[in-house]
Amino acid sequence: MRTPVIAGNWKMYKSAHEASALINELASLVEESRHREIVVCPPFVALPAAVSAVRGTNIEVGAQDVFWLKDGAFTGEVSAPMLTAIGCRWVIIGHSERREYFGETDEIVFKKTITAVDSGLKPIVCVGERLEDHEAGRTEAILAKQFAQGIAGMTPRQFERIVIAYEPVWAIGTGRTATPETASSAHQFLRQQIADRFGAELAEECRILYGGSVKPDNISGLLAQDDIDGALVGGASLDAASFAAIVAAAEPRG
Ligand code: PGA
Repeated sequence: MRTPVIAGNWKMYKSAHEASALINELASLVEESRHREIVVCPPFVALPAAVSAVRGTNIEVGAQDVFWLKDGAFTGEVSAPMLTAIGCRWVIIGHSERREYFGETDEIVFKKTITAVDSGLKPIVCVGERLEDHEAGRTEAILAKQFAQGIAGMTPRQFERIVIAYEPVWAIGTGRTATPETASSAHQFLRQQIADRFGAELAEECRILYGGSVKPDNISGLLAQDDIDGALVGGASLDAASFAAIVAAAEPRG
C-alpha cells in the first residue's frame, strides 16, 4: 500500500506572513483528509512561520532546496541540519528550475539527496525530460541517465526514504499537462529502473509523484493510473481551495 503524497511547491511566492495565512486557510479545508501525506514547500524565509502554522494539523513543511554539506563557508546556502532543527521534514531536490537556471547536475542532486536523507529529511527528488528530448523520443534515455547518476548510487536504506517526482519540463508552468497515459508510461519506466537496481520490493513501495500543470480538473485522471502516487503541484498550490481539491482527489492505493 503506497500512501499518496500531495506536495505544493510555492517557488518564489509568499512571504512569511502570507505563508501562515495560506496554511491556516488550507488546514481547515483538508482537516478531514486521512491516509495521504500533505506537504507545503514555501521559500526558506517563510519556513519557520510555516512550521508554526502547521502545528496540530495534518500538513507537513518542506524546503525547496538544500546544500550538500552540513556546514561550512558557503555564502547563501542552507544546510539539512538547519532545516530539521526548525521542524522542516521534507525537501525538494533537483527541481528542473534549479537544473535549468542554477546549473544543478545529477551529481549535485545525488550529493544533496544523500545529505538530506542522512540528516533525517525526506527528499522529493525531481527528474524529467525537456521538450526537445520529449519530441525526439528520448524520454526514457533521459530518465535512465538521471536515475543512474542522481539516484542509483544510494544504499537501499537511503533509497527507501526518498520520493521521486516525475516532472516533464515541458509541462511545468505551461498548462500543458502530460496525459495520464504518457505520465504513467514514464512512471512505469522509473519503477522498472528501481526494480532493476534496488529490487522488486523497494520498487513496489516507492512513491512516484507526477508534476507539471496539475490542477483540480486533471488530477483524478492522473491518479487513476496505478503507478502515479501523488503530485508535486506548483501554481495550483498557491490557492487553498484548488490545492485542497487536489488533496481530496488522492485516494490511498495498493
Ligand atoms: P506547475 O509546477 O504545477 O505550476 O506546473 C510544478 C512544479 O514546478 O513542481
